[in-house]
Amino acid sequence: MNEPGITELKNPYFDVQAEMGITKHAGGLKATQELVELCRIDRDKYVLVVGCGSGISACKIAKMYGCRILGIDLSGAMVEVSSNRAKKEGLTGRVEFRVADAQDMPFKDNVFDVVISESVTAFPEDKAKTVGEYVRVLKKGGYVGLNEVTWMEEPSVEMVRYVIRAIGGVKPETAGGWEKLLRDSGLEDIVVRSYTVKKLEQAISEVKMSGITTSFKAGGRMLWLYFTKPAYRKAMNDMVKDAMAMPRDFMKYCGYGIYAGKKPL
Ligand SMILES: C[S@@+](CC[C@H](N)C(=O)[O-])C[C@H]1O[C@@H](n2cnc3c(N)ncnc32)[C@H](O)[C@@H]1O
Repeated sequence: MNEPGITELKNPYFDVQAEMGITKHAGGLKATQELVELCRIDRDKYVLVVGCGSGISACKIAKMYGCRILGIDLSGAMVEVSSNRAKKEGLTGRVEFRVADAQDMPFKDNVFDVVISESVTAFPEDKAKTVGEYVRVLKKGGYVGLNEVTWMEEPSVEMVRYVIRAIGGVKPETAGGWEKLLRDSGLEDIVVRSYTVKKLEQAISEVKMSGITTSFKAGGRMLWLYFTKPAYRKAMNDMVKDAMAMPRDFMKYCGYGIYAGKKPL
């Protein structure tokens, strides 16, 4: 992987995670399983995982449900981490990854049985276009499933600014906002479930999702990056500062939602 200098990180939040080989979404494995069930994923399905990150969900879903998966991510580093994971886990051929932008996907219409994205759709500039792309590449009768950062209460301007800065430019919606995006893109039978996040539960769910070994390796990699790469040290120091500046009522405002809808036949 490249070793950028102090000013070369494009999105420090994602670049640090890619180098650590670990990404996350609220609700961990339990939320992924909920999404899988809502989207009726089974061994006969061809699933597009948008914003696959480190590939943990894609590999887990393929192993647990026996389906074929294509994962895409904007970041080449994430795709490299995901591809290595699939190879290591003996999933080559059934699970593949490539670089692509969720807002403009290089696929024909009506290709996939299911499109899922976990903590991704709140990042692109144009969410309506992004969800429109999910629906375009989905077969009729197939499901789109999202797990997305959700405003549980109307946030203040300061809270919005904090979240954008601390979470890599994320722009959450309210549950109603996400529901409208799915409905406006033509989906039906829409399911909306929103949850608050509890810090300890979330930490445990992340370790369960990644596994103890991957979590330990990520910790080791983080220390190595901190002490050897100035750009990553600066990014991590900024993240710690942001974590310390977290507004007291942050967890009351910022939760996650599971959203699913079916493309009409
Ligand atoms: C918070 S991480 C979540 C990763 C993964 N889904 C998970 O649950 O571990 C968000 C991921 O979305 C990717 N991403 C952001 N914007 C994207 C876009 N427009 N197209 C594709 N991927 C994108 C980032 O590179 C990052 O890997």
